[in-house]
Amino acid sequence: MADQSSRAGERYASAQILEYAARTHHPEDRALARAFEAPARHGMPEIQLGPAEGRLLGLLLRLSQARKVVEIGTLAGYSACWIARALPPGGHLWTIESNPKHAGVAAEVIGEAGFGDRVTIIRDDAVAVLSKLNDSGPFCAVFLDADKGRYDLYGRWALENLRLGGLLIADNAYLFGRLLGDSDEAKAMRRFHEEMALHFDSVCVPTPDGLAVGVKMTPAA
Ligand code: DHB
Ligand code: MG
Repeated sequence: MADQSSRAGERYASAQILEYAARTHHPEDRALARAFEAPARHGMPEIQLGPAEGRLLGLLLRLSQARKVVEIGTLAGYSACWIARALPPGGHLWTIESNPKHAGVAAEVIGEAGFGDRVTIIRDDAVAVLSKLNDSGPFCAVFLDADKGRYDLYGRWALENLRLGGLLIADNAYLFGRLLGDSDEAKAMRRFHEEMALHFDSVCVPTPDGLAVGVKMTPAA
């Protein structure tokens, strides 16, 4: 029932409904299940995408036939596995991770999943390294899941380095519920949304923490 309550944010999913939907739509994939468990196995923060969000990310990339993708914020490589799985032959993912331990775990996880040949892990700070990627573009898609206070910078880089029709996707677009606050992070996230909306045909999908999705419609100024 799509109604005023659901449009105002009420959710009808229960833990049991989510479990049923996941079990029905997401047949077990050993490699992805193992990648999902990697943060827990390695004592890392368990802040990876949920399995349904990973699957949605992969589907969006498949629908847009994305060949060259950049991810900012690799963590243990779970979302990178979803992205790599969606790439056509010859496609490539560049994924940026500043934490050396996380990058090391991701290399192992992505290799074990069989995607090592189509993924480059860049072990550096994203702001320092993004401009070095420009020559490998223009890109078909950019996925943001890194430090939230710099989404505005990452969004600007994406605008400049995506092809027209390219996809920008960003996790945590509600900033853990703090999107409308006064913090610098909240202001940066709002700039991200507002600048995205100017150049992209976009929507913020109401996943638990918001997933901004947009197609680039106009060139960077
Ligand atoms: C955090 C980061 C994320 O990207 C996320 O999806 C959830 C939590 C965090 O930094 O706490
Ligand atoms: Mg996230």
